[in-house]
Amino acid sequence: MAVLVSFVAAVRPLSHGLTQPPPGTEKLTALFPHVAFDDEFSEFYGGENVRRVDNGSAVNLVLDKLSGCGIRSKSMFYHGFFSAAVKLPSGFTAGVVLAFYMSNNQVFPKNHDEIDFELLGHEKQKEWVLQTNIYADGVVSTGREEKFYLWFDPAEEFHEYSILWNDHHIIFLVDNIPIREVNHSEAMRAYPSKPMSVHSTIWDGSDWATRGGKKPINYEYAPFMATLRDFELRGCASNGSEPSPSCYGGTGSHEGLLDPVDGREFATLSEEQRSGLAWARNGFMFYSYCDDAKRFTVMPPECSVRG
Ligand SMILES: *[C@@H]1O[C@H](CO)[C@@H](O)[C@H](O)[C@H]1NC(C)=O
Ligand SMILES: *[C@@H]1O[C@H](CO)[C@@H](O)[C@H](O)[C@H]1NC(C)=O
Repeated sequence: MAVLVSFVAAVRPLSHGLTQPPPGTEKLTALFPHVAFDDEFSEFYGGENVRRVDNGSAVNLVLDKLSGCGIRSKSMFYHGFFSAAVKLPSGFTAGVVLAFYMSNNQVFPKNHDEIDFELLGHEKQKEWVLQTNIYADGVVSTGREEKFYLWFDPAEEFHEYSILWNDHHIIFLVDNIPIREVNHSEAMRAYPSKPMSVHSTIWDGSDWATRGGKKPINYEYAPFMATLRDFELRGCASNGSEPSPSCYGGTGSHEGLLDPVDGREFATLSEEQRSGLAWARNGFMFYSYCDDAKRFTVMPPECSVRG
């Protein structure tokens, strides 16, 4: 991950969204096939802490005192829908970070792009926090973090974390409910626009992850293990520099580029998805960089054109 940020959260009051059940939204995850860990991913680092399970369809990622670990997709993708069902470690997990993200920092070290989910562990009786972020074109001076509580215990069952990325916008979804939309607007200036690989990593974020680093990892509770399954990687496969030839010749709008999520149904959110987005943000978001006047003397330009 590019930058470890710790700052005082600009806390907004939560309206206790749990008084209403999660709204029904389109099941985008049902549109795309599941792919096996063995077929689409390989070990990124951490050796034996990457443990394939269920005949290689799923994987356990382990963090212990010696090492964290990570996996990475064999292909890079330009636009698409990327998803995994994740079950997080239970118990005391302060300082633990499980990230599910897209990045091309190995191919473009100077101008990399990144789209991040980061799940931040908790102390006893406290909840996991979900942080989202994006970087584009190597501009890492402005992190665009937003933080949410979840409306479920993410260590009890599997939940789906998904990224939709096309030329119009980037949508972060949890169990198919959009929690964040980043428009590809003029104001956004830098927007992720080069192929990326899909990663998941588990690591020690003691110095920042839980209450700004006040609660480090306690390895007495190790090993910490997350399980990932039901992967979906429906993108335009690419070898890094260019979208691959199989992406061309389609009906997509970009000079014949066939983009699997470029259709009208992926260009804007439906009414249902908009109310899901409002539900999640009103009830569960407790930090947005756009509300953090202490951090920015000049607010990032996209903050003034929010819908
Ligand atoms: C990537 O694919 C493109 C198009 O097929 C090709 O021109 C280019 O040489 C490839 N690059 C690498 C690094 O393999
Ligand atoms: C993104 O653009 C759409 C369409 O113009 C608009 O309805 C929506 O509010 C915008 N979202 C954000 C977060 O600015």
